[in-house]
Amino acid sequence: SASGSSSTTGAAGGVKRLTVFGAGLMGAGIAQVGAQNGLKIVLSDVTDQALQNGLNIITKSLSRVAKKAQPDDIEGFTKTVMSNIETTTDAAKAVEEADLVVEAIIESLKVKRDLFGFLDTKAKDSCIFATNTSSLSVTEIAEACGNERQARFAGLHFFNPVPAMKLVEIIRTPQTSDETYNALREVTLKMGKAPVTCKDTPGFIVNRLLVPYMLEAIRMVERGDATPEDVDQAMELGAGYPMGPFKLLDFVGLDTTSYIASGWREKAEQGVISKELVEPIPMMEEMVKSGRLGRKSGKGFYEVSGVHGATET
Ligand code: 3HC
Repeated sequence: SASGSSSTTGAAGGVKRLTVFGAGLMGAGIAQVGAQNGLKIVLSDVTDQALQNGLNIITKSLSRVAKKAQPDDIEGFTKTVMSNIETTTDAAKAVEEADLVVEAIIESLKVKRDLFGFLDTKAKDSCIFATNTSSLSVTEIAEACGNERQARFAGLHFFNPVPAMKLVEIIRTPQTSDETYNALREVTLKMGKAPVTCKDTPGFIVNRLLVPYMLEAIRMVERGDATPEDVDQAMELGAGYPMGPFKLLDFVGLDTTSYIASGWREKAEQGVISKELVEPIPMMEEMVKSGRLGRKSGKGFYEVSGVHGATET
């Protein structure tokens, strides 16, 4: 079943083997979507428990996908997809044969740089490296690698829930080569996603617009102008958003949003983004401090059982 010859995609080899680092919600989703679309996946994380957790996320999501993709043979569909996924905690082994690495580990510049610096010495010269970072500079992460690899380095930013969201942002650094960019466009299309292109700027396209919007919504509630429920209803029914900003905040996590905003405050010092957009918000900081992070902690702006129309992931 290896040769599904697609002779129209002539470009330089094409990505067949994808290695994903990080078996959390994003990494698991990326691995799943790759496997669903015929890529050979290696999913890697630091512990067996993390890998098992990733496989559980995939199995759960696949049961929803299978119902639509292959309703008369859910088991067969799931088996085929799962057979495209291997797991290992051995990072060197994980990249041995990879054509593309997508990293979706914790949002720490140091940890990401350490990983890529190591992988640079282990992967094939032709292997493309990509990061799924949502808040860090792709260029600064890529600097952990040699010059050759920096030309084969880009951001590849997926959205949560990965199996359901069609968009992928391809982030080009000043070093990213045309060949790398084209290969990434090709593989995102192969994964059934729609790519857009952006320079390496804070938040790229989606988060650059979405984060200030969510922060402004919190400020509105903090001032007492409206309730979270009314703001959500307003944006859902008046602007056609699938989730209002508070459901989205609970979904993304208040800690994540607060972390992105604080990273941008440093960028604001350099004039890359305007200061007022990312001013600290006492209400959000309080909620984060008291563990009201959203869905992941069971409570955010809403109690989890009270949030509806939103998916379990
Ligand atoms: N796995 C597989 N499929 C899934 C899924 C998952 N985890 N979650 C949703 N789906 C698909 C399913 O096909 C589902 O159909 P089904 O009924 O057959 O299961 C379909 O989506 C619709 O799901 P639901 O009916 O359960 O719920 P909704 O219609 O409300 O859609 C949603 C859910 C797609 C999450 C929608 O509410 C939405 O688009 N919300 C906004 C999400 C968003 O903005 N994400 C971006 C966050 S920002 C980000 O990720 C960037 C980061 O860097 C911070």
